[in-house]
Amino acid sequence: MAEPSPDRAATQDELDLLHYQPRIERPVKMKSPELERNERLRHVIFSGQFSVDMLEDLARTADRIRILSKNRSGQDFLIRLLHHKRAMLYFTQPSTRTFLSFMAACQILGITCNEVRDPTTSSETKGETRFDSIRMFSSYFDLIIMRSKLARLAESCAYLMNDLEATGNRSVPIINAGSGADEHPTQALLDIYTLQRTFQFADSRSSTISTRFEELRKDYPELNQGLTNKVYGFCGDIGRGRTVRSLASLLANYEGVTLIFIAPDDPTLALRDDLRTRLLDRRVNLVEVDSFDATYNGKPVIETLDALYMTRIQKEHNAPGDEQKFAAIDHSRYKLSTKLVERMKAYAPILHPFPRDQHFGEIPPEIDNDPRAMYFRQARNGMWIRSALLASIFGVDHQIDRFFHDEYSEWHHYNEGAGVGGEGSEPSTASQSGQF
Ligand code: NCD
Repeated sequence: MAEPSPDRAATQDELDLLHYQPRIERPVKMKSPELERNERLRHVIFSGQFSVDMLEDLARTADRIRILSKNRSGQDFLIRLLHHKRAMLYFTQPSTRTFLSFMAACQILGITCNEVRDPTTSSETKGETRFDSIRMFSSYFDLIIMRSKLARLAESCAYLMNDLEATGNRSVPIINAGSGADEHPTQALLDIYTLQRTFQFADSRSSTISTRFEELRKDYPELNQGLTNKVYGFCGDIGRGRTVRSLASLLANYEGVTLIFIAPDDPTLALRDDLRTRLLDRRVNLVEVDSFDATYNGKPVIETLDALYMTRIQKEHNAPGDEQKFAAIDHSRYKLSTKLVERMKAYAPILHPFPRDQHFGEIPPEIDNDPRAMYFRQARNGMWIRSALLASIFGVDHQIDRFFHDEYSEWHHYNEGAGVGGEGSEPSTASQSGQF
């Protein structure tokens, strides 16, 4: 958070941010209810707002939207759901996937989008504060999706909206699409959705367990469906990776998980104290190592992982002197190779929030064709889960449920007795991701 400098008067922007500071510093448990309305999410600011049940509900809605989007009647239904809504995408930090997948998610549900990506084209160059800008957006739009290099700006904007609501003024939901090096909750949602689909081990044409799962169990007798009791590895720039912070917090919701952080032993790049404390408070089994060959449970880490989350080194956040300091690190330890992938478990998905860095090469392209390489599917999953999130915020998720059941009841009926699927099975629920 920007502090006013002692040798000049504070700007209004800085004073506004300081005004929200005491509310920001409260524990997540205290803050979460203020970000909800009638037991529904109103603002999406940090991943601590999501419970396992909410993640399951979102995944189900995302699955339904994905399946409905395959045919014309489904698309026509979805696009009418929120065609009376308008969204502002206020992205003052670079973005490709998050921006485009939010835009595509809005388009699926008929939401009209507008964007401000470059603040030099807005009235902020005329001295307008960010908070005035946000309030203006809320006059014209029904939702603000925002990315900023300021860690707590989205959260402050949510409190601004709540204050406006309390005084009878117009107020709209805020979605955090990446806040500084702090949080990226919707990226964590798509990461979790990808893991949920992967660890369903479902057949491509029904939601029944695949024969592949039975095969895998011969080699991995302990393997279970779902996200519980698994070992998740995070490799690379752990200290500055907001996607790592958000996903690790979400994984802490699941029983019996082990999180292994593979990062250089450097205070900038290694796990930060605040996240370590948060995870230990949640009783996560936490392991910190500096290479894939370090041992965990008597085996090299790379061989024990159920899933691997790679990240790039976020050099745009380098402080003066960092580059020189990092030159002493053996970076090859934080890059995947086909040799390392060969040693991974046969089912362990490889994720990456993307972009990957072609110069650093944390995932060389020769790995892309490995069935465990999940990062392109992961990015596509972002569109489905973000649609589900928007549907939930605007309360149309139950309509999607009802339409889905009506649309596919014939399918269920037709397939009854035909040996396709099982009780509650749905067409193609696992066709896009999570397949090997
Ligand atoms: C990430 C981000 O911007 O935090 N990318 C993304 O949103 N998909 C990760 C990164 O930039 O390394």
